[in-house]
Amino acid sequence: MIQIMFYLVRKELAMKNISVTFKPLEKKIMVTPGTSIKKALEEADLSFEFPCGGKGKCRKCFVLVMEGVEPPTLMEQKHCEKNLLEEGYRLACVTKIYRDIIIDLIEEEGETNHKIIHRCSSREVEVDPHLFKKCVKIDKSVLKDYPSDYEFLITSLGERLGINLNSLRRLDQVLQETDDIISVLTDGKEILNLEEGDTRGNMLGVAVDIGTTTLAGYLMDLTSGQELEVVSALNPQSKYGCDIISRVTYVEEENGLGKLHKLIIEGINNIIEKAAKKAGVSTEDICFITITGNTFMHHLFLGVNPSPLAHYPNTPVIDRSLKFKGEELGLKINPGGIVCLIPVACGFIGADAIAVIMDTELDRTDKIKLVLDIGTNGEIMVGCREKVLAACSAAAGPAFEGPQISCGMRAVKGAIEGLKFRNSEMEISVIGEGKAKGICGSGLIDAVAGLIQQGIVDPGGRILSPEEIKDSKGDFKKRIKKYQKNNAFLLVDGDASYHGRPIYITQKDIRELQLAKAALYTGIHILLDSFKIKPGDLEGIYLAGTFGSYLNPESACAIGLLPFELIDKIYVVGNAAGSGAKMVLLSRKELKRAESISNIVEYVDLSSHSQFNTLLPQFLNFPDKDII
Ligand code: FES
Repeated sequence: MIQIMFYLVRKELAMKNISVTFKPLEKKIMVTPGTSIKKALEEADLSFEFPCGGKGKCRKCFVLVMEGVEPPTLMEQKHCEKNLLEEGYRLACVTKIYRDIIIDLIEEEGETNHKIIHRCSSREVEVDPHLFKKCVKIDKSVLKDYPSDYEFLITSLGERLGINLNSLRRLDQVLQETDDIISVLTDGKEILNLEEGDTRGNMLGVAVDIGTTTLAGYLMDLTSGQELEVVSALNPQSKYGCDIISRVTYVEEENGLGKLHKLIIEGINNIIEKAAKKAGVSTEDICFITITGNTFMHHLFLGVNPSPLAHYPNTPVIDRSLKFKGEELGLKINPGGIVCLIPVACGFIGADAIAVIMDTELDRTDKIKLVLDIGTNGEIMVGCREKVLAACSAAAGPAFEGPQISCGMRAVKGAIEGLKFRNSEMEISVIGEGKAKGICGSGLIDAVAGLIQQGIVDPGGRILSPEEIKDSKGDFKKRIKKYQKNNAFLLVDGDASYHGRPIYITQKDIRELQLAKAALYTGIHILLDSFKIKPGDLEGIYLAGTFGSYLNPESACAIGLLPFELIDKIYVVGNAAGSGAKMVLLSRKELKRAESISNIVEYVDLSSHSQFNTLLPQFLNFPDKDII
């Protein structure tokens, strides 16, 4: 058997006879003929994003093949411009390697500067810790008077606590080796860890928000409630698709559950380690972790198959709050540390929504508020003390900046994040201030609002031809080009962009935007209708999440994403999910509150709502430019 395996490994190695060089990193690996560039990137351990999960649909994985280029695939011929293919651009997910090849990744690995919003409110929370440390003075002369070491310990503590196996195994040694004081970590029921000396001052915790795209970790002092550090990173699962459906597909079709679970645990360990290093503390002092995230991320964190969530009736495997030992999940924290998962309400209303409701106090307000958390998924919450309704709009983030938008990209370095038409000039702001690589959601909404105002896009969403435009100032008409037989608006010329490819807003992009904003607005309308109120009756609109933080409210109203009458009552609340996770981290009462919210929040299924398909077409059009 061993000989056969040895033979197979040698055969595989012998077949790895094609060299792949990745520039600008100058990383070289050997692969077997027929390996895709995507697979080669994985084998080279290079992080590269495949927003559509590598299905060849999004055109977001372009690389430049400098040597050894193969003829374009049929998929590339269908979806990519001829001149790009002639220059050697290929889609990494569909292109196979059959000879030595040199590939320019165009962007250096890791050079993404993700614009992750981790700013969040620090609501006053009365600290009511989940765990405590108690000190015991060791008097070895009396140890022999007790029937066991354990009896000595609990008698000294003055509490009849249980003890976990790890602590029990170490108890004799700790008592023998300690001359003075030991600290006992406990949840009030069980001894979780034994530490030499008085370590009561070292009680730290981390609130973790697992977004589909990003991770944020808040390192907190569990005694004072003070925030010590904040660290964020890209969710390492992103290379298996930018949305939850791509991740589920990876689980179902490629048996990827173990891999996605491992990646998220590694990602969280990295942010814990980074936060501890920045704060100058030890990860061993981190005793408690809270986890929030949508139900898919919640299941993947636990290593539980999220597949049932993607299929009717979309039932989660578990919805209540949970506590596990950190080491059971592979988290590198205090050996007795506990991980607490905030409950989910249902398949589509996850722990992130519960945390957002806590932070925005929807469950405590007398006047009705609207909260929008437009992340990778779009969550709509409307409520007050009496009732809270929540709905989930179709993947909102990707619709505004993901695979569906021809030059769309997330809010990272190189993304056009804002755009203004000033007289005859177009002012573009790019994240990182370098050359533009594409456009993110806030930039797209700004651009379309400006194009409506300039009369280049009509209320029906059509990009007009130059001869149809009467009074647009400047030379904007010249920017209207043909793109795949339809009109498109040129934002950045190929010679001014980062990668040499032009950046457009196409007719199809505008249709996608119309559909996404209409779906979101229809959801808002249906939820408000359940309260029998109109937008003007709302106390305010609260925008949570990264996307909401960079959204220009005027542009959002100009495209009909938000109601105009509330333009002065739009509040940006940052990462409200992170803030809710911090509240639960500091207080047992807040965990109880999260549990009660998860029981009262009512999910409204928009896709099967009788009004949805009737209302949606009414909100597809943009508001008339004269009333903006
Ligand atoms: S086209 Fe390659 S990842 Fe989407």
